[in-house]
Formats: sequence, C-alpha cells, structure tokens
Amino acid sequence: SLKGLDLLAEIDRLRKERNAVILAHYYQDPAIQDLADFVGDSLDLSRKAAATDADVIAFCGVRFMAETAKILSPQKTVILPDMAAGCSLEDSCPPDQFKAFREAHPDHIALTYINCSTEVKALSDIIVTSSSAETILAQIPLDQKIIFGPDKNLGGYLKRKTGRDMLLWPGVCIVHEAFSETELLKLRAQHPGAPILAHPECPPHILDYADHVGSTKAILDYALSSDSEVMIVATEPHIIHQMEKAAPGKTFIGAPGADGNCNCNMCPYMALNTLEKLYLALRDLTPRVEMDEALRVAAKKSLDRMLEMAG
Ligand code: 13P
Ligand code: SF4
Repeated sequence: SLKGLDLLAEIDRLRKERNAVILAHYYQDPAIQDLADFVGDSLDLSRKAAATDADVIAFCGVRFMAETAKILSPQKTVILPDMAAGCSLEDSCPPDQFKAFREAHPDHIALTYINCSTEVKALSDIIVTSSSAETILAQIPLDQKIIFGPDKNLGGYLKRKTGRDMLLWPGVCIVHEAFSETELLKLRAQHPGAPILAHPECPPHILDYADHVGSTKAILDYALSSDSEVMIVATEPHIIHQMEKAAPGKTFIGAPGADGNCNCNMCPYMALNTLEKLYLALRDLTPRVEMDEALRVAAKKSLDRMLEMAG
C-alpha cells in the first residue's frame, strides 16, 4: 500500500536515483506541474525530450507525447504513468483509414498535427504543433497541395488565417468541442472587456470570439503580458494554474461548457496521470513506451522536419 508514503519526497528520491527528468504538459494536475523539471506545450516538450541527457524520461502528458519523446530519444527509457492516457484526436484517425486517404490524394503532401499515433506520423511528411503550424505552412510552396489531419478545427483555423486551401481530415478534440457559445457570451457579458484566449482546437463558433488564438504556451505568454485584470481562457483549464502562479493578482476564468462551468472541459486522458502512478512508474520503470524500430525511424522523419522547420 502507498498509504503513509510521502509521495513528493519519494518521487524526488527516485528521480535522482534513476537520473530521470520529469516532463509535464500544462493540462496536468497542478501537483504534477509543480514537481516537474519542465512544463511546456507539445513543441517545447518535444525539444526537451530530444535534448535531455537524463537516462529516463517520465512523461506526464498523453501517450502520443510520450511516444514522440521515444521516437526522438530512442536510447532513453520513456515512462508514462498511465498507458491508457490517449487522445480523442488520435482515436479519430486510424492509420489504415489515413493511409487510404493519402492514397486517394497522391499529389498531396500530408501535413499532420502531432496529436496522432506513431503510425500516422510514419505516414506523414511533416508534423506540426499548434505553436509551429503557421511557421511551417509558410515554408511550403503555394502550389503544393496539402492534406491536413487529424484536427479539422486547427486545419480550418489555418485555412482561414493563411488563405491556403487544404483537404481536412474530420477529427476533433472532445475537450475543445465542449465549449458552449451561449455560455461564453453570457460570461463575456458579465466581464466586459475581458479578452478571450483560445486554443485553435476550438471550433470556429468559439474562435470567432477570441482576441488571441495560440498554443497553450502562446496563450500563457499572452495572458502574462496582457494589461487586462480579467481574462477568459478557452482551453483545458489546468493551464490556469500557471497563470495564477505567475500573475496572482489577476483573474483567469475557464470558458464554460453547456453546464455553465469549465469542469466538463477537463481532458479525461490527461487526468489519468496521478502522483501515485508517477511514483509507481519511477519505482518500477513501467508502463514503458516501446515501439518497432522501423516504425520509429519512419515516424522520426516527419518529426525531424517539424523540428527543423519550426526553427
Ligand atoms: P499544445 O501544443 O498547445 O500544448 O497542445 C496540446 C494539446 O493536446 C492541446 O489539446
Ligand atoms: Fe487530446 Fe484534446 Fe486531451 Fe489535448 S485536450 S490530449 S487534444 S483529448
């Protein structure tokens, strides 16, 4: 039993003993964010995973993020506190169907959001994150035809923002789909002038009201540099932890779902990771991310292109 264990102290002891680095996404529980060696968005977490000299990467995020760490750092042991931490975008894009989609459009390149399986990365030409998508898209010749998957909301946002045409895969994130336009308008009426910050995984009827659209890191940076005292945050609400830590005098309100509060917008996959499971993962070095070497090398090509083009 773990009863009576000082989990924070034990995690700290094991992290040193194992020469482990703990990487966490902004959607993790505040207790996990606070003990992590680094907290970041998908792009910065990939860069950290590629550059670390630790022996073990304890990845507190979802499975595609931990797999990305393994693809980029194959010699490291990569552990994920709960292997069931998937992602609805990944689930919406089965590799066999994606392969058929590619084959139906042989003159298109596949520009693919990092929120997908290793198999789909291996079937893609260039991976993007929400923070790097625009920079990368700008480097692709205008006459090059593109398919973009799996997130139709990020894809649609990029199309509107850049005026480029892309064929979109119809995937969505269940968390960002759950924001309610009606409740958002009510909230905005209660806080006139409060800027709305939104992640591009939100559907267009939410992004239409956003004063700033960006990755988790970009939303955080915007919030911290803004003069506003009150801000409305339309992404997974755990990121508000970092905002409150850095700007304790300000008010950050999670954008509401249909029930009028932001509780239905928590990512159920991210929530599977707990301090207890992180402790056990560091103690037992399992659940561990493993993958076929040929698949890894194929997926690394499109990820390396992202890292080069993202700058
Ligand atoms: P970021 O790269 O913006 O952190 O996005 C990750 C994610 O899963 C958003 O739902
Ligand atoms: Fe996937 Fe959405 Fe959760 Fe991000 S918030 S990990 S896109 S389900």
